[in-house]
Amino acid sequence: MMGKETYNVAVVGATGAVGEELRKILEERLFPVDTLRLLASERSAGQRLEFCGRQILVEVLDEDSFEDIDIALFSAGGSVSARYAQAAVDAGAVVIDNTSTFRMDDDVPLVVPEVNAERIAEHRGIIANPNCSTVQMVVALKPLYDAAGISRIVVSTYQSVSGAGRRAMEELGKQTAALFNSHEVECEQFPHQIAFNCIPHIDAFLPNGYTREEMKMVQETRKLLDDPEIRITATTVRVPVFCSHSESINVETRSKLSAADVRAILREAPGVLLQDDPQNNDYPLAIEAAGKDATYVGRIREDDSVENGINLWVVADNLRKGAALNAVQIAEILIRDAH
Ligand code: A2P
Repeated sequence: MMGKETYNVAVVGATGAVGEELRKILEERLFPVDTLRLLASERSAGQRLEFCGRQILVEVLDEDSFEDIDIALFSAGGSVSARYAQAAVDAGAVVIDNTSTFRMDDDVPLVVPEVNAERIAEHRGIIANPNCSTVQMVVALKPLYDAAGISRIVVSTYQSVSGAGRRAMEELGKQTAALFNSHEVECEQFPHQIAFNCIPHIDAFLPNGYTREEMKMVQETRKLLDDPEIRITATTVRVPVFCSHSESINVETRSKLSAADVRAILREAPGVLLQDDPQNNDYPLAIEAAGKDATYVGRIREDDSVENGINLWVVADNLRKGAALNAVQIAEILIRDAH
């Protein structure tokens, strides 16, 4: 990509939950946008959305949407990326894709800037943003990996409904209101009622009994840490929280780290905010992480049931660090390096 003063940026899936955060974050971080093109399906064509005090018309995505676009941020689902990302690349744009479509492709860098920013330069038109639950886990674990190595990770997630999109957020609200008013609950976005419930099922089940979401955490973490040897097992659960994913992570390091060592390492870690004062009821909370950029880590304890075990509680805004913010950080590095 050529270095320029300002860039033409397209947001594919502009009306969605992540699309909205992309607009906010580009504005907040003063990304040097010349033209912002907002793309969605014909369902939202004609809507106007605000960016930097201007009202921008939402256009219907098609093959010709990427003329003059420098950076295309895709967040409209895997099938849309599979169908249109190449058109954007052919038109000369760099695609930063938020779906799982290209993440495991050998010639597509999978990037979390705090973890492996150096991979961005290897792109051949497409850079993949990892799954939201993977992003916050690797932000917390990379500094421990660098300090002591990691042999095994056991992770259980408590994932908010916003990860399933805007309609899923509306469904949690509607079901909650329906239950308070003794009305029938309608389930469209999730296989079961999500209000006042926990659903151990995110994305489709695979023949091995795991869900796709769980296997994304396994495979993407290995790719991001560039270590195929790490043993990882995940259980991913949808909980009735609007925003932010929480994760209980049990990690076995190759050499011993005390809880104090882990605190000292994470206090200095990029993108991490240590929040670990349980005596004062202070630990990461989903409702406090919502709208913030950091990955919050607390409840740091040694796990004495194994030789080098550590337990962590990790919380981040899945629409921001888990999706839109990570994508914009990648774009910032792209344009920095283009100069
Ligand atoms: P639309 O509002 O027109 O349906 P979320 O993840 O919050 O559900 O958002 C998904 C985003 O992807 C929305 O902006 C949605 O637009 C967009 N989208 C979904 N399917 C398509 C499609 N076939 N073409 C273009 N945009 C799409």
